[in-house]
Amino acid sequence: MFTSLNNNHIDYFFSLLQERCLFDSDSLKKYSHDETEDISILPNVVLKPETTEEISKILSYCNEHKICVTPSGARTGLSGGAIPVYNGVALSMEKFNKILTIDEENLQVITEPGVITQVLQEAVREKGLFYPPDPASKGSCFIGGNVSENSGGPKAVKYGVTADYVLNLEVVLPTGEIIWTGANVLKNATGYNLTQLIVGSEGTLGVITKIVLRLIPHPTNDLLMLVPFFDAQEACKAVSAIFKHGITPSGLEFMERDALIWTRNFLNDNSIAIGEDHAAHLLIEVDGFDSTVLMDECARIVEVLETFKTDEILFAESQAQKDALWKLRRSVGEAVKGNSIYKEEDTVVPRFELPALLNHVKRIGKKYGFTSVCYGHAGDGNLHVNIIKGDLTDEQWEKELPVAIRELFEEVIKLKGTLSGEHGIGLVQKPYMDIAFSKKSMSLMKNIKSIFDPNGILNPGKIF
Ligand code: LAC
Ligand code: ZN
Repeated sequence: MFTSLNNNHIDYFFSLLQERCLFDSDSLKKYSHDETEDISILPNVVLKPETTEEISKILSYCNEHKICVTPSGARTGLSGGAIPVYNGVALSMEKFNKILTIDEENLQVITEPGVITQVLQEAVREKGLFYPPDPASKGSCFIGGNVSENSGGPKAVKYGVTADYVLNLEVVLPTGEIIWTGANVLKNATGYNLTQLIVGSEGTLGVITKIVLRLIPHPTNDLLMLVPFFDAQEACKAVSAIFKHGITPSGLEFMERDALIWTRNFLNDNSIAIGEDHAAHLLIEVDGFDSTVLMDECARIVEVLETFKTDEILFAESQAQKDALWKLRRSVGEAVKGNSIYKEEDTVVPRFELPALLNHVKRIGKKYGFTSVCYGHAGDGNLHVNIIKGDLTDEQWEKELPVAIRELFEEVIKLKGTLSGEHGIGLVQKPYMDIAFSKKSMSLMKNIKSIFDPNGILNPGKIF
């Protein structure tokens, strides 16, 4: 289907990039995987371009020679988007690591895609500005990967996801042509929204080389509480009750008992007491500019929580305690990964349906004999379901698990939810796309893909 790389191709890449064209086994190994489960497929060559023009030349050459190209950011993805399924070129964006302009007049930042999200957040924070989307991997992921996957994170519940901040993108198309998708404006009713088409397209339509993001003033205060529940269903039910009470927290995270215990062990942090009868916790944050307002919001949240079966609430008393609690929450994914072979789903339902979703996860688990550890962005109705291999045989894992996952996704769709809230479809969720979309919708998407990428060279084997 694709051309196998030969010495002529390598010579061309080498003449273009010299030492930024790598084919030693360590480099190939490094670019063979992201953070998705245990999947690894080697590329034939790793290219590290520095300029948009170099990317344009690479893509136009690959398009002409039908060589497949897999864009690669920091490889923190959880759906296999950066795995070079058909080998070929791994196109690393790590040299695109400059923040180009922080525009304090317009509250915007123009950045290259290989900037670490937290680095970007800290740079704009110095100017009193806020870029809210904060995936758990914010300390290592690239902003370009966030745009490609439409990443979320805990702050999304109040501030929205990556898509809500992207105004304009410079993109190199698989043919090598370079376009800007929109304009650096807050309102845009001019033609089709190519910017938002590229956001979340998982590196299948073009390679992003510049990103224009809108910013907002950085809140000055926040309060954080950890709430133990005796029953996980109750914790899920409390989520929509808080919003119904007129409060929008800046974080509303759910962690099942095992998620918290495994992470506590993983971090060797025993500062949080977890009672024998604590089934789940909510981590709730409010933020803003006026501490009196925040105190009042907390009091109103507590009022709501009093109608549920909770144990004593822990209010973070210092910045250090807040940081420790967030670290705990942000490390759950890694802790689960370190504990067992697992399969992660990124289900999302309308918030009020969260208890029903959790119920289906556990019911289907019982039926097929698997255990699961659930956690996630409850305020968004986004539950990360981690199915644990534990004692399951390889046969059960490979044959029965996909059937169980299909059943779960079917329930999710019945609840008017969808397959992924923030991790994307990539490689690992694509067998299930027919559950979420009709044949017609799938064919529209495939046609869009072929308009952008007539030879299908860019990130093949993803989404469809
Ligand atoms: C998290 C990642 C896994 O929420 O999305 O921790
Ligand atoms: Zn998440």
